[in-house]
Formats: sequence, structure tokens, C-alpha cells
Amino acid sequence: MTYEEALQYLTAHGQEHLLRFYDNLLPQQQEKLLEQIAGLGLERPQFRDRSALTQKRGKFSPLGALTLEEIRANEETYRKIGIEAIQNAKVGAVLLAGGQGSRLGFDHPKGMFNMGKTRELYIFQCLIQNLLRVTNEASAYVPLMIMTSEQNDAETRAFLKEHNYFGYSADNVHFFKQETEPAVDEAGKVLMSAPDQIVLSPNGNGGWFSSMQRAGLLKTVEEIGIEWLNVFAVDNVLQQIADPVFIGATIASGCASGGKVVSKAAPDERVGVLCLEDNKPSIVEYYEMTEEMRTLRNADGSLAYRFGVILNYLFRVDALMDTLGSDFPLHIAHKKIPYLNQDGKFIKPEEPNGYKFETLVLDMVHMQDSCLAFEVERAKEFAPVKNATGVDSVETAQALLEQNGVVL
Ligand code: UTP
Repeated sequence: MTYEEALQYLTAHGQEHLLRFYDNLLPQQQEKLLEQIAGLGLERPQFRDRSALTQKRGKFSPLGALTLEEIRANEETYRKIGIEAIQNAKVGAVLLAGGQGSRLGFDHPKGMFNMGKTRELYIFQCLIQNLLRVTNEASAYVPLMIMTSEQNDAETRAFLKEHNYFGYSADNVHFFKQETEPAVDEAGKVLMSAPDQIVLSPNGNGGWFSSMQRAGLLKTVEEIGIEWLNVFAVDNVLQQIADPVFIGATIASGCASGGKVVSKAAPDERVGVLCLEDNKPSIVEYYEMTEEMRTLRNADGSLAYRFGVILNYLFRVDALMDTLGSDFPLHIAHKKIPYLNQDGKFIKPEEPNGYKFETLVLDMVHMQDSCLAFEVERAKEFAPVKNATGVDSVETAQALLEQNGVVL
């Protein structure tokens, strides 16, 4: 794209401010900026009318889960199926580590955060130790695919290499980068972070499978013969990865996917709930639920919409293939986005000042024909590190690790 083409394109979309610093840039910086402008996709709806992105939802109905009791009763059968699947190389794990962790306010990839008090215990280390427990039991490695972002890829790779993958086999670790989306201010103007740099944020955790395809990793999946992918978030330090009982139960159920869920503690707990939407699996967010849905009860007195998701899913690879090329809904996130102001001054806002556009893995669940909700014990499997203090924070997660016998 030439300067003239860029100017014409940006003017047509009211974004010509992106060339404000162009004349003062070195030739290679000018080229870099023009390349970014060419990839912006400004004709897409999010740059015209954000309200058009609001999703129309269908008719919700409750979805039951395989409960803790039912799982306990069949645990050995499920475990055997799961271990066999791992031994036959049918299972891969996908770590979603491309987020920015802005709420935690840590300037490195979240997985590099040290949870230890008297020793080093990084989030990545917690996850890999949990995975190693399973691979030791199965005497077989699970290929671990790590999704990073443009911003944190190099640091993540270097950190894990430096720590020898915390004992995991390097041959079984694969990295891939997710795509980016431009961020805008509250008036819809695309933000810049440097005179030659547009704010390009990771595009949410929904695009992981297409990013794997773009990175050529689906060939690896095919060559190994992987049939199931266990996708999970980086920020749950009690995350059980490639859990053989979960894998076995999902395979035995005949469902195209499975989701780990925890029982909601109270009707007003702010978690997304696995349910049905127009008879297909779906996740309804807390704020989308009516009072009636929140308080609806089954005959036995339990909440009808009771199973909250913890971002740990199993997807059947052949069903995922069918989702490639589908349009994922874009969600809008109001966030604090550091930016360069009109005078070229770098500003770190204290309050949310703009919007990022993200696809979400939960929309992938809705693309599946079926999903097994698999109940797990919250105190044993769910310790999210979202905030520096307060709810779902470093402190609450440390306390849960200690409760589970981890020395910090
Ligand atoms: P969150 O929704 O908590 O987002 O991610 P975040 O970016 O990590 O944190 P905040 O909201 O800025 O504080 C849930 C999971 O999805 C991954 C995260 O790394 C985390 O494992 N994720 C999120 C991605 O891999 N890519 C993204 O673009 C966003």
C-alpha cells in the first residue's frame, strides 16, 4: 500500500489521524505503518456501528451435568478410557496464553507470575506440574500447544525454555501465535501506541483453532492422529489438564465436546452458565440471565441454571474442522488501553478509555452439536488469578493452592 492509497483508504473511514506522524518517520517505519494500515479491515462492522455487534440470543433452557456423584460411581471406567486415549496419542492440550492480563497488572505474560511465598512457583509451573501428573500415570506425553500473542510470544518462549519447560518434554511443546485486532477509543478512532505502531490487541480466545491452522499446527495434529483437544485457560492454577476421567466420560457420552463446570454457590454468582440455546449447547453470561432464569429451581430444589464454566473444554477435532471459516461473533471489551495522544505523548489511562474486539471460546461451544457438562469440585480445580487483590486474586488462589497441599 502506498502513502496515497493509505490516505484515501483511511479518509474514507474517518481514520486519517493514523498518518499524523508519518512525515517524521524513517522509511522502514513508514513501511511498517503502511503494512499495518493495509491489514486493518476498516470496512468491517465494528468500525461503523458497535451496537450492530450485539448478539441476538435464542431461547435458553437448562442443561444438566454429569454430577460429582455420577462421576464417582463410574470413575474407574472413565479413567481407563481416558488413559487409553492418551496412550494412543488421541489427546492434545491447548493452553490459551495470549491474553493481556490487564486486570492483574503484571507486565509480563501471566504464566510468568510467581505464586510462591518462600520459593518460586510460577503459574506455568503449576499447570505443567498438573499435566505431568497425568502423563506420568499414562507413561505417555500429551502434545502441549501454547497460544501466545504478538506481544508476549518471544518472552513466553524464552521463559519456558530457560526453565526447561518445567520438566515437560520440549519435543511435545508447540507454540503458535494468535491474530490481532485494532483497538479504538470511545469515539471509534483507531488508537496508536507509537508513531509507527497501531494498537493491535490479541483478538480474544475464540480464534485459537483457526490460529492453529494458520500456524500449520493442524498438520501436526493430523500427523499425530489427535482426535480430542483439551483447551484451557492459563490463569487457573488448579487447572487439571488432560484429565483422564473427563476425557473418558466425554468419549463415553458420544458428545462432540465437553466442558468442566462447577456448581454455582448462589443464584447471583457472576459466572457464565452452560445451558442450551435453541437446543444447542451454549454459555449464557450472568448479565444475560433474567431474574427468573437465575432463580429457577429443579424439583429437588437445586438451581436449574447451576453449572458455571471454568474455561476447560474438550473438543472433538473433526467437529472443530467444521467450524473453520465460520464467522465468530465479535465481543466488545471496554478496557484501559495505553495510547499516543494527538501531541505524540504516551498516556497510560487510569480508567477504561477504549474498546477491544474479541472472539470468545464459548462461542465455539455453541457451534457444537452437543456438549457434556462435567461437574468438578470447585475447591480442587478452580483457583483463577484474575486480579491483584480481592475476588479471584493472587491471594485467593494462593489460599486454594495451600488447601490442596501445595507448598508456596
Ligand atoms: P481473560 O478473559 O481473563 O482475559 O482470559 P485476559 O486478557 O487474560 O485478562 P484481562 O481481562 O485483560 O484481565 C481468559 C483466558 O483466555 C486467554 C487468557 O490468556 C486466559 O487464559 N486469552 C484471552 C487468550 O489466549 N487470548 C486473548 O486474546 C484473550
